[in-house]
Amino acid sequence: MSVQKEFGTRAIHDGQDPDKWKHRAVVPPISMSTTFQQFAPAETAGFDYSRSGNPTRQCLEECIASLECAKYALCFASGLATTLNLVHLLNAGDHVVCFDDLYGGTNRYFRTCAARMGIEPTFIDMRDVNEVEKAIRPNTKMVWIETPTNPTMKLVDIEGVSKLLKKYPSIISVVDNTFMSSYFQKPLTLGADIAMHSLTKYMNGHSDVVMGAIATNNKEIYEKLKYIQNSLGAVPSPFDCFLVNRGLKTLHLRMERHMENGMKVAEFLEGHPAVEKVIFPGLKSHPQYELAKKQCSGYSGMVSFYVKGGLSEAKTFVQSLRIFLLAESLGSVESLAEIPSLMTHASVPNDQRKKLGISDNLIRLSVGVESIKDLLEDLDQALKKSQSV
Ligand SMILES: Cc1ncc(COP(=O)(O)O)c(C=O)c1O
Repeated sequence: MSVQKEFGTRAIHDGQDPDKWKHRAVVPPISMSTTFQQFAPAETAGFDYSRSGNPTRQCLEECIASLECAKYALCFASGLATTLNLVHLLNAGDHVVCFDDLYGGTNRYFRTCAARMGIEPTFIDMRDVNEVEKAIRPNTKMVWIETPTNPTMKLVDIEGVSKLLKKYPSIISVVDNTFMSSYFQKPLTLGADIAMHSLTKYMNGHSDVVMGAIATNNKEIYEKLKYIQNSLGAVPSPFDCFLVNRGLKTLHLRMERHMENGMKVAEFLEGHPAVEKVIFPGLKSHPQYELAKKQCSGYSGMVSFYVKGGLSEAKTFVQSLRIFLLAESLGSVESLAEIPSLMTHASVPNDQRKKLGISDNLIRLSVGVESIKDLLEDLDQALKKSQSV
């Protein structure tokens, strides 16, 4: 099926052609076999060993490529395994320019594991594109963007950075597209070399799979990564691929509702007396509202806010919630709430957290697709309790 079809059609059909299967299954079968019978030595029907390639995984990879407007996609065992595979494109001594407000696990990976492999990360505030150019060194080989960031919702101008990097053809740009999903943001059409995802979040959308993916139009990068995927072996199971493939079929529907609910929650919080400040790219009060409108076609359900008070008020708030679940992760049908300084971003050093605005009264909500009336009532009662401590 061609890329010209609308997103919802591609999410349901691309990579799923029933002709691929002997019985013309409409839903791609879960191909659990680790090995495939060969016609003659090294003469296969397309697959030889499931680490190297698997029919169910291939369906998912084709679908993700289509959704990201890419020629190629590859799936890995988690979002962080995807990061690890991408960093294997580099050599010891190479330098990476990273946004300073990355997801805590990505930040930790670059600071500790990648640094031990001889990869040098520099963390900068990429909201100003000029800062990217200032950070580039002769050995810079990768620029790592996450936009909007987790949890303080800062944006990077993907097109602006991509234009700048045209002057530096040996630098690969990577955009972590997890927060927006392929539905609301298409980094490759804005000039990035690679879009990456924690599929664990919106793309799967049901809190039952940990997985990651990349998409690219660059054949050389794809071939290198395919080699690395097989060599490192951090591949997802066929069953998990089946689940993500199924999740993608409703991505467009889920994202529309996440955005609708996210917007209503953000507006509600902005007018609430127990709230100090709300951060949501769809609000006019967001300092990069115009950029969000330009590079994204929607806003997802990620809403961060500062509750009035400190840690004790924040803890009372999250522990008083009845529908929002106190849990890490994001992007699923159920609404979640967390305190990043204690949970998802506890691994980010204290001074860095302070600089980024990840204070103890910052709450991150992943607004799900439940009925909005119930969600607003839940937030209201928990906010009131937070102020009575
Ligand atoms: C923006 C972002 N990127 C990457 C990851 C890592 O993904 P995973 O948990 O699937 O390894 C996360 C996880 O929370 C994330 O939020």
